[in-house]
Amino acid sequence: MCGIVGYVGSRGSIEVLMGGLKRLEYRGYDSAGVAVLDGHGGIDTRKHAGKLGILSDDLAATPLHEGTTGIGHTRWATHGGPTDENAHPHLGDEGRLALIHNGIIENFGELKAELLERGHSFSSETDSEVAALLVGEAYRETGELTAAMLQVVNRLEGAFTLLAVHADQPDVVVGARRNSPLVIGLGEGENFLGSDVAAFVAYTRSAMEIGQDQLVTIRPDSVEVIGFDGQPVEAKTFEVNWDASAAEKGGWPSFMAKEISEEPEAVAKTILGRVDDSGLVRIPELDGLDEATLRDIDRVVVIACGTAAYAGMVGKYAIEQWARVPVDVELAHEFRYREPVLSERTLVVSISQSGETMDTLMAVKYAREQGARTLSICNTQGATIPRESDAVVYTHAGPEVAVASTKAFVAQITAMYLFGLQLGQVRGTLDEGRARGLVRELQAVPEQLASVLSSGERIRELAKWMADTQSVLFLGRHVGYPVALEGALKLKELAYIHAEGFAAGELKHGPIALIEPGQIVFVIVPSPRDPNSLHAKVVSNIQEIRARGARVIAIAEAGDAAVLPYADEVIRIPLASPFFEPLLAVVPLHIFGMELAAAKGLDVDQPRNLAKSVTVE
Ligand code: G6P
Repeated sequence: MCGIVGYVGSRGSIEVLMGGLKRLEYRGYDSAGVAVLDGHGGIDTRKHAGKLGILSDDLAATPLHEGTTGIGHTRWATHGGPTDENAHPHLGDEGRLALIHNGIIENFGELKAELLERGHSFSSETDSEVAALLVGEAYRETGELTAAMLQVVNRLEGAFTLLAVHADQPDVVVGARRNSPLVIGLGEGENFLGSDVAAFVAYTRSAMEIGQDQLVTIRPDSVEVIGFDGQPVEAKTFEVNWDASAAEKGGWPSFMAKEISEEPEAVAKTILGRVDDSGLVRIPELDGLDEATLRDIDRVVVIACGTAAYAGMVGKYAIEQWARVPVDVELAHEFRYREPVLSERTLVVSISQSGETMDTLMAVKYAREQGARTLSICNTQGATIPRESDAVVYTHAGPEVAVASTKAFVAQITAMYLFGLQLGQVRGTLDEGRARGLVRELQAVPEQLASVLSSGERIRELAKWMADTQSVLFLGRHVGYPVALEGALKLKELAYIHAEGFAAGELKHGPIALIEPGQIVFVIVPSPRDPNSLHAKVVSNIQEIRARGARVIAIAEAGDAAVLPYADEVIRIPLASPFFEPLLAVVPLHIFGMELAAAKGLDVDQPRNLAKSVTVE
C-alpha cells in the first residue's frame, strides 16, 4: 500500500516523480503528492485527494518550481481519511523538510502527545506527520538529514518506509525501511528510490536491495546504506529483468486486458530454464533447500492471501499426489495468530506476487522463528519475502499492474506444479516416466491457453449481457474448487457484485438454498476422463441446480457432450489432464470478471478500496 518514489540527479524531478508514481499507482490511489527542492533553497509541495490524474492536471495548470531532487507519494489511506491535508508529503522543521511514509507507526499516539507538549501543531490526522515533525526536530539538533533520520527511526514502532528531503541539503534524499518495501535504482549521475523497481525502470535497470532496519542516503553520485545501528552495510545489487515497456498498456484498453493476454507467456516463462535435458524438472533456485532437506520434510504448509492462496490450494492437490507429503493451505493472516505447530521438518511455502504482503511476510518470519524451512514463490525481484526465505522460486509473469491478479495466478500455479514435480522426483514418489509425461503436458499449456484466449468472444458477450446481474455463484470440485473461488473473487473485486465460490460437493449442505429462478451459476466441470469419476457427480449437481431454475454456464473440456442437455451455455477448454485444467478454466473467468466490470463502466485496473500490495496488516 502506498507508492513511494525519490530522485536526485540532473533531470527535472517532477517528470521523474510523476512517471514513477504513475507506475506505482496500483499500490494505492486515494491521494497523491510531491515535494521538490526548488533549486533556490526552498521546498515546493503539491498534494491532492483523489487519483494521480488530479495531481498531474493541477501540476500542468500551475507548475511547481523545477528542481532536480524530490520525493513523491501515492496513498492508500490508513490513519486519516483520503483528504488533501492527509495526503503526503508532510512537512517538518517549519516547512524546510518534507517526508513521505508507507506503513503504520504504531506508537504514534504517544509520540504525538510528546510533540504537542513541545508546542507543535498538526495539520493532518496521519501518523506520518509525527515522523515529519520528529525528523524536523532532529535535524535542528544534528544539522544533517541522515543523522536526523537515524535518530528518529530508532524511536518508531511498527512498519514504515520513510523518505525525506531537506531544503538545506539540495542534493540528498534519505530513505529508511522497517517491514515496508524500498529499493534503490542506480543511475549515472542520478539515483532513485522506489517502493518497487517499477518506480525507476524507465531510467535504469540496475538496482540495489536495502534490507530491514536499514537507511539509505542517495546523492547524484553516491549511495550509502547503513543499519539503524549506524554501521555501514554492504548492499546487494541486481539487474531488473524487464523493461519499462513491460509495464505500459501497449495499446490494450486496460492493464488487466493486457495481463490476461499474457497468461500463456506467464506460464511459458515460469517453466523456462526449469526442465533439464532429460525432460525432468530441475529448479536451480531450489539449491537453497538441498535434496536431503526436501526428502526429509514431513509436511508442507502454504501461506498466502487472496488469489495467491487459491493458487496454493490448486498446488496442494498436485503436491500431495505427486510427492505424497501432506499439504495444508492457510491464509497468512490466520496462520500466525493461532500458534501453529511447526518443526524443522515443516516446509512453509509462501506465495506472493508482490513479495511484500505484510500478512504473508509476518507469517514467513514467524515460521522461521519456529525453526521451519521456508520457500518463497514470488513474482517481484528485490522484494522482501524472498529475502526472508531460505529459497525462492520466482514466477516470471512480468510486472503485474492491474490491482486484481490474473497472470500471476497462472504463473503461481505453474511454479507450485514445478515444485511438486521436483519434490516427487527427489522423494521417489513420482517415477521418471510419469514425471516426464506431466512435464510435457505442462509445457503444452501455454499453447492451450492461447487457444482459450482466442475463443474468448462468447464469454465477452455473456459478460456484457449480464452487466445488471446482482449475484453469481461458482461451483467446482477438486482443483476446480479453487478456480471457483478465484472466479468469485474476481467478480467481487472488479465488478462489486456479490459472488461466491463453492465446492460442488458442498452444494446440498447449504448453498443450494440460494438457487432461485434465474440465478447464474458457473460450473467448472471436471474432465470425463478424470480418474476419480468426479465428472458424473458434477453433472448431477448441474441437474440439481437446473431443476431449481439456475442458469448454468459450464466450463467444460472440448467434446464433453454430457453437459450439453443441462447447461444454458458451455464454454469449451482444450483437453488436459485434471491437474492442468485449472490453468485453462480460469481464463474465461478472468475475462468474464473484467468484461462485466468494464460493461458496468468501472475501472478494472484500480477497483475501489483495494491496493495491489497490501503492506500493512
Ligand atoms: C491484494 C490484491 C490481490 C492479491 C493479494 C495478495 O489483496 O488485491 O489481487 O491476490 O493482495 O497479494 P500478493 O502480492 O501477496 O500475491
